[in-house]
Amino acid sequence: MGNILPVYKKVAITVARAQGKYIWDLSGRKYLDFISGISVNVLGHRPPAVVKAVKDQLGKYMHVSNLYTDMTQEKYADLLIKKTFPGKVFFSNSGTEANELAIKFVRKAGEGKNKFRIISFANSFHGRSMSTLSATGQKKFHEGFRPLLTGFDFAKFNDISSVKKLISPRTAAVLVEPVQGEGGVYPAEKTFLRDLKKLCLKHKLFLIFDEIQTGFGRTGSLFAFQKYGVRPHILTLAKAAGGGLPLGVTVLGAGLEKYFTYGSHGSTFGGNPLAVTAGLATLRTIDAKMLKRVSALGDHFMKSLSKLAPRFSLIKEIRGEGLMLGVEFKKAVAGDAVAYLFGKGILVNACKDNILRFLPPFIIRKGDVDLVVGELAGFLESESAGVK
Ligand SMILES: Cc1ncc(COP(=O)(O)O)c(C=O)c1O
Repeated sequence: MGNILPVYKKVAITVARAQGKYIWDLSGRKYLDFISGISVNVLGHRPPAVVKAVKDQLGKYMHVSNLYTDMTQEKYADLLIKKTFPGKVFFSNSGTEANELAIKFVRKAGEGKNKFRIISFANSFHGRSMSTLSATGQKKFHEGFRPLLTGFDFAKFNDISSVKKLISPRTAAVLVEPVQGEGGVYPAEKTFLRDLKKLCLKHKLFLIFDEIQTGFGRTGSLFAFQKYGVRPHILTLAKAAGGGLPLGVTVLGAGLEKYFTYGSHGSTFGGNPLAVTAGLATLRTIDAKMLKRVSALGDHFMKSLSKLAPRFSLIKEIRGEGLMLGVEFKKAVAGDAVAYLFGKGILVNACKDNILRFLPPFIIRKGDVDLVVGELAGFLESESAGVK
């Protein structure tokens, strides 16, 4: 024990097993999982359809390399294109890599034209590699890693005039999360994304949506761009994309594939058959009925949380879309809330010192939401008592 690079602040739980909406620790204690692997396990842990599909695939092959045609990848790409927009799919292993290709695409498409700058947003999160870190609009992630990659300009989220001001002849693309996740659960305004698209069309810029956290039903639509009614030129996906196994996906809209030829990009593990199989089983399971359920549960969750606001002055704002919800406090107590709820057998996450985030699996019931909101009220009561 103790030989792992200490870059994660760990909650005191050593996992023994996980099933459905629960995780059990080594002592047999059960936890209600309201973070689902940071939006990976959207169907809960080990959903039977996914486990069966992976087991079947294990009996055939686990890895063959991208030198050969793999029908699991072909089937996944066909279904994803059907459910998003016409284009071509590239498989990688993570969100970082999905965004890396989108950034490399911008460089490739602008090659020789001195057009390579990408407008990203303050408070965004796009990954930890040097390119995606450079695209991330949060200084705390940059500390110690300079010099960063050049070519990124940061506009203010939900402020179209700040984007307009940054556009120059060097600007090639805009990269945005429809709902900022790691930054603290900030949904884009509908008009903002629509105006962004218009601006991109006017200035011939590529619009890239990072739906790594919002994709695969999280906001109540299969993809958030559909909920917003704004189709990007490029879509980046990961987290739930692999149904619990590592998978990154970049969708390049129709015609954009012309910038790539044999050897211009690649990945050894990208599109691993087991990950693709788990992801395909997941994608097939997220049907209209499930999406409706996510929306209904999300509405109930939002309403229940909103009822806490007038009772507790510590709450600054409640935000979210579907089952991606955040509670912002006026003080840095989100870590204390995580610890309190952990003590009650509930797993949640603090994405900022003052912002508590909920990303439950889609299989939860109303009663689970009521339980979590009730315990959160308990935390807020104990905090208010402490203030007196
Ligand atoms: C919006 C967004 N983009 C990119 C990433 C990076 O994904 P990964 O950790 O799989 O590299 C994340 C991870 O939290 C994310 O939420």
